[in-house]
Amino acid sequence: MLRTTLLPAPACLTLFVTVAMLLGLFACKSAKPDGGAEANARTRTDFTKDWSFSLGEQQGAQEPGFNDGGWRKLNLPHDWSIEGSFSESHPAGTGGGALPGGTGWYRKTFTLSEADKGKVFYIDFDGVYMNSEVWINGQHLGKRPNGYISFRYDLTPHLLYGSTPNVIAVKVDNSHQPNSRWYSGSGIYRNVWLTKVNQVHVAHWGTYVTTPQVSEKAATVVISTKINNTTGQAGSFTVSNLVYDAAGKEVVRIKSEEIQLTKAENEVSQELTVSGPKLWSVEEPYLYKVVTLVEQNGKVVDNYETPLGIRYFNFDVAKGFSLNGKPMKILGVCNHHDLGALGAAINTRALERQLEILRGMGVNSIRTAHNPPAPELLDLCDKMGFLVMDEVFDMWKKEKSKFDYSHSWDEWHERDLRDFILRDRNHPSIIVWSIGNEIPEQWGPEGTPIATELAGIVKSLDKTRPITAGLNEPYPSNSIYKSGELDLVGFNYHHEDFEKFPQSFPGQKFIATETTSALATRGSYDMPSDSIRRWPYKWDELFTDGNKDLTVSAYDNVSAPWGSTHEETWKLIKKHDYLSGMYIWTGFDYIGEPTPYVWPARSSYFGVVDLAGFPKDTYYMYKSEWTSEPVLHIFPHWNWQPGKTVDVWAYYNNADEVELFLNDKSLGIKKKEGDDLHVIWRVPYQPGTLRAVSRKGEEEVLTKEIKTAGAAARVVLEVDRDNIKADGKDLAFVTVRIEDKDGNLVPRADNLVQFKVDGKATIAGVDNGLQTSMESFKADHRKAFNGLCLAILQAQEEAGTVKLTATSAGLESASISIKMSR
Ligand code: GAL
Repeated sequence: MLRTTLLPAPACLTLFVTVAMLLGLFACKSAKPDGGAEANARTRTDFTKDWSFSLGEQQGAQEPGFNDGGWRKLNLPHDWSIEGSFSESHPAGTGGGALPGGTGWYRKTFTLSEADKGKVFYIDFDGVYMNSEVWINGQHLGKRPNGYISFRYDLTPHLLYGSTPNVIAVKVDNSHQPNSRWYSGSGIYRNVWLTKVNQVHVAHWGTYVTTPQVSEKAATVVISTKINNTTGQAGSFTVSNLVYDAAGKEVVRIKSEEIQLTKAENEVSQELTVSGPKLWSVEEPYLYKVVTLVEQNGKVVDNYETPLGIRYFNFDVAKGFSLNGKPMKILGVCNHHDLGALGAAINTRALERQLEILRGMGVNSIRTAHNPPAPELLDLCDKMGFLVMDEVFDMWKKEKSKFDYSHSWDEWHERDLRDFILRDRNHPSIIVWSIGNEIPEQWGPEGTPIATELAGIVKSLDKTRPITAGLNEPYPSNSIYKSGELDLVGFNYHHEDFEKFPQSFPGQKFIATETTSALATRGSYDMPSDSIRRWPYKWDELFTDGNKDLTVSAYDNVSAPWGSTHEETWKLIKKHDYLSGMYIWTGFDYIGEPTPYVWPARSSYFGVVDLAGFPKDTYYMYKSEWTSEPVLHIFPHWNWQPGKTVDVWAYYNNADEVELFLNDKSLGIKKKEGDDLHVIWRVPYQPGTLRAVSRKGEEEVLTKEIKTAGAAARVVLEVDRDNIKADGKDLAFVTVRIEDKDGNLVPRADNLVQFKVDGKATIAGVDNGLQTSMESFKADHRKAFNGLCLAILQAQEEAGTVKLTATSAGLESASISIKMSR
């Protein structure tokens, strides 16, 4: 009943074995894999601890005998730029975040047991910014210019066993600047792993799992497995694939007959069926797991895991996007990779918090602008149910910054693109590949052949997802579009052309790869609120009304000239089904690109959420539109000069109208008309209480109050989670509010707050979201900005309780206890 076909080996020395299996044949057998996967034939060890680091050029630091005794000891991930001070004269420029670059060295010493002789060891880097070179015991292993790509080296031939130590040395060269249009960070800023396997093992990113047929009744799962045999000898092996459900229960398995693995790289393809599959969706991101077992004489020689989400999706010319047959808009944001005060240093909890905040606003998709993301982001998107547009390049051969990746293009782009697809193609969250953002070649004929080449590489590795690119000029004459390779036409901006799409691109599918680029500073308001200003043409106007401090009004009324307000773009996307969705530039503010470039601005104004993770007001516009949770959000604050006319806006949903009261006197009922997304009152200011009530029919839905705050009286702390893991990595995000004696947020408070930690935790970063702050992110104090600041506490590896105390001159202090659990 089991059919095994041996196909002739193609020139690349691949032995391709197809093992086809009849439906349900081996479904639901024993819960334990043959030979016991628990034997742990493969180990993947976190290799981030106990590194030594030195900034600057070092002679001979790759040599094992080099004395690094005076170097700083640290754990990875590490970003040295975020530790520096801001200066306009740093060569990265304000576009790069005005922080230092340079060259840095890392070294790590480790021993291996004699029993490990005969094993194969790889070192896996998730990302090093940039131009990294790696040595083991003085042997040069290679170089990787791209700062976002994941890569591995085989350490095996150079390793020492027993008590003699091995030394890994890594040189990171981020000295040639500018090389990025945004803050990149510097160093080994993502995780590092030591992978130990037997000589016959699943290759790097060696599985490819697809679900070509999915219905409620059954899903066909095709698993292609690449197996390396480094023994130099043929051997007889079996390959099994087992599917486990989310509860860890085996659902189905398939096992090949004995296969001769004769070559260095062999490929096995197997097909099985999951009956009654639970589908992966945004609302219920159900994950199965595939475990691949390679066995010899009944003994497991490798066990390898691949996530599996069973889903299907479609982009339709007329109806837009659907997931599992259900129409839905892609409600996305673009994000850069930095994590605010933590810089580029990856932290899973920090990423998870970003996603939680975005989910609260109704976001269902992320565009990884404009580079391969940290693998942890994709894992989280799989688990939390975010759709991903995975983007690989911000430039091709033509440079955007003087020392950018364009200079490595010829030598590296094919390898980097292949590695990117191979690493990421098993993530159910990924629904689109983007082969580039605003690529300069689109303006010349060279855009066509390069797009054709890149799409060819992508399609050779994954045909299950459409390809797009973020086009500046979304017109049929665009040379990237003319390649015919874009499955989705990617619009960056040009919202005024959205409604012409069916005429301009008949028969094509639309995605707004990048939209909006509206600017705002949290909690800063300039009036009148309803005249739209586009920087730079009217930038001077922005300085006339209290924002000489380079804050930008958080009424949704300022944007880059190529962009729009939030409302302008969303109104259009909302209106037409064929507009499958949008990616706002950006979800979070990010370091660098402080459009407009006026020093001391050093981080962007584009986020719907500020750099510290505090939502700006438009967050609630999206929440009112993109979620079904009841929303009534009124702004601005209520501390103005008496007599000033203040524009009061309300975002609301699930209600017919909103009535506003000032000191219990009605200021009138307002209703959204037509495509309105907010209502507005012009109110002569008097101190007191502003109260809004939303109603559906006669029923009150929500009430919101804002009171005129008195003098700052106390510090108040709020923590996102008061019990975190004592694993040396987990974080507690503590929001600091400056309140008056009655508990009102003091809206312009900028008091300096001092933090003290009692217990086994450190302060990993501080921030307040102000784009022009010159204070360091790595400190034990921070000034509040518009009433708020943030301290990020990082656990050590000891269980216990940590107390964080915040004091500020003249204010009542506060403290909070956070449990660290093993
Ligand atoms: C876009 C670009 C983004 C960012 C944005 C700022 O054109 O793709 O990376 O620079 O502008 O508005």
